[in-house]
Amino acid sequence: CILIVDFGSQVTQLIARRVREAGVYSEIAPYSAADAAFDRLNPKGIIFSGGPSSVMWEDSPRAPQRFFEAGLPILAICYGQQTMHQQLGGHVAGSDEREFGRAFIEVVAESALFDGLWAVGETHQVWMSHGDRVEALAPGFSVVARSPGAPFAIATDEARRFYSMMFHPEVVHTPDGGKLIANFARHVCGLTGDWTMAEFRSAKIAEIRAQVGTGKVICGLSGGVDSAVAAVLIHEAIGDQLTCVFVDGGILRAGEAEQVVALFRNHYNIPLVHVQAQDLFMDGLAGLTDPEAKRKFIGKTFIDVFDAEAKKIGGADFLAQGTLYPDVIESVSFTGGPSVTIKSHHNVGGLPERMNMKLVEPLRELFKDEVRVLGRELGLTEAFVGRHPFPGPGLAIRIPGEVTRERCDILRKADAIYLEEIRNAGLYDAIWQAFAVLLPVRSVGVMGDHRTYDSVCALRAVTSTDGMTADVYPFDPAFLSRVATRIVNEVAGINRVVYDFTSKPPGTIEWE
Ligand code: XMP
Repeated sequence: CILIVDFGSQVTQLIARRVREAGVYSEIAPYSAADAAFDRLNPKGIIFSGGPSSVMWEDSPRAPQRFFEAGLPILAICYGQQTMHQQLGGHVAGSDEREFGRAFIEVVAESALFDGLWAVGETHQVWMSHGDRVEALAPGFSVVARSPGAPFAIATDEARRFYSMMFHPEVVHTPDGGKLIANFARHVCGLTGDWTMAEFRSAKIAEIRAQVGTGKVICGLSGGVDSAVAAVLIHEAIGDQLTCVFVDGGILRAGEAEQVVALFRNHYNIPLVHVQAQDLFMDGLAGLTDPEAKRKFIGKTFIDVFDAEAKKIGGADFLAQGTLYPDVIESVSFTGGPSVTIKSHHNVGGLPERMNMKLVEPLRELFKDEVRVLGRELGLTEAFVGRHPFPGPGLAIRIPGEVTRERCDILRKADAIYLEEIRNAGLYDAIWQAFAVLLPVRSVGVMGDHRTYDSVCALRAVTSTDGMTADVYPFDPAFLSRVATRIVNEVAGINRVVYDFTSKPPGTIEWE
């Protein structure tokens, strides 16, 4: 495999992705844990990420010096390139000029990195992002590609198989970047490119067995894809040492509880505790209108219910979570102060300390779409694996103002109609997330010969790659009219439907 040493770049995870797209397994370790990861993984090649630090600072991050003596190929990107040259005897100077964005580099010499890809004399687009610059290359290095602004755009020591670049090959704005990384992984490091999800599955199963031993594991199911895939994988590893808990607080979508219960109990035969906690949730939500107060109440109540259920089964040694790679990486980055809390996300954080449990997180190395591939590998249906994301606080954050049983029922019906129409139109997979929101606004309408004075329903649909940014899905107006007509006709309590045209930013995907 390839070890990626993280110096804190925002895009380190993209390096891992590009390596895996080449069919080679890779893992990221923060620079401070790189030594241990090296010993554990026995990698065939190393990549240094970029990062926000300056090698001019005292205490800025360094690569373990022994990596340079291991006889392994190293690809060093951006900050990684600077620290590599400095650690190997070159010279880096601070610079007031920072270069960001598109640049064109010219290939001036051959390199194993370019084999079958780039030839001398060609010009290629890359994505630069750097502040400091290498002024003198480390001994043994020579320039193989350059631009007017970046005389050492790519410098290599072909004999030692050290490759350094000032730009980011991992981002899409470097069109051949993925191929450069694939060349490094397969051609230079000699890895065969046969890493598959089937291998990941069997490796993980062995790992889970080793970690858990004869201990008991408890897993909270949200109804979403990640926790379901984690649970099925863990069950395959340790069978009935796993218990799943599914908390129904009355804020799920239409049919969701039935689907989860059927999937786990009937299809997989996995022990599942289905907790009917509707009263607890609805009573506690009464009178709450502030979005954060709602979120906090729901998060805390989930933990209480979960805790109580865990006690009933005699406690557990491990808590399983569907933590994904982007969640892990976020906590590794050190690009400045804490970020502002836009929303308190609901998860079962806080539980491990409170219940003194260790974590089992078998999806920690995967991206969302890789989890879907693993889900298919484990036999989950396409319909389940391809589901839109659904937030932990559920329908409660799609009912601005006070949440009541009645309003949850109204919203469930409208939402089900909207999604049924989306599926019928063949649009479900083209959309990241689509849902209805029940507004705390009443408006006047006329149906038949009667005046109505009922609630407004907003429809939302967005496209996104990671939920961080989103664009509005551009429905055909005829489609929206059809949905609006059906909702007003079929759902008592709603007499008006509007479409939310806000992208993210400035909006967020959910309304609260
Ligand atoms: P926002 O609304 O912040 O949401 O643009 C981005 C993505 O995250 C989902 N979301 C959540 N997921 N727990 C979750 O597991 C939460 O508390 C939560 N809040 C929002 C949201 O549905 C969207 O996909």
